[in-house]
Amino acid sequence: MEELVIASNNQGKIREIRAMVSNLSLLSLMDIGFMDEILEPFHTFEENAAAKARAIYRFCQKNVFADDSGLCVHALGNAPGVDSAHYSGERDDEKNLQKVLERLAGKPDRTAHYKAVICLVWNGKSYYFEGTCMGTILEEKRGDKGFGYDPVFVPEGYEQTFAELPLEVKNNISHRGKAMRKMVAFLEEQLQKK
Ligand code: IMP
Repeated sequence: MEELVIASNNQGKIREIRAMVSNLSLLSLMDIGFMDEILEPFHTFEENAAAKARAIYRFCQKNVFADDSGLCVHALGNAPGVDSAHYSGERDDEKNLQKVLERLAGKPDRTAHYKAVICLVWNGKSYYFEGTCMGTILEEKRGDKGFGYDPVFVPEGYEQTFAELPLEVKNNISHRGKAMRKMVAFLEEQLQKK
């Protein structure tokens, strides 16, 4: 089976991605022996995803993809955006989420969207796939599934948060699910050509 490296150490993301891909052998960073932190120094999801995928490609020369994703809260000028993972100054989901709730307190517009951009390095060339998911931010957390900002994010058309909905439902409608399905369709085409 063709191998594909997931350039992430985020267990929440890796769990979601594994549930969506069956016809490829997915390798984690641990599987390829990459132990360093990957830097995300840029101001766009595209540039950060590309930087991560390229760094891992240089390390192992295997096909690899990286996703850069985040929560964009409209009343906060789309913050935390690319800074979602360390918005509070620390890589701490709880502190990051509390900072969003504090900043949003008293603001009437609680709409937001998640965005994910995948950069796939396939046979040395880069390809991009993206997805968004619209929703609103609650005032209090609900649910214990998911990760990051999921306990306060209610996707459009639903009443439950991403931390209450089953993983299959989240993957069907989420930013990452949408971007992943575009990449999987591309990979299926590439594998058929072989
Ligand atoms: P990245 O590793 O730079 O892509 O960090 C993404 C960050 O965005 C995560 O650490 C979360 O804070 C947030 N995020 C992205 N996607 C999701 C999601 O599906 N649920 C909850 N938080 C998310």
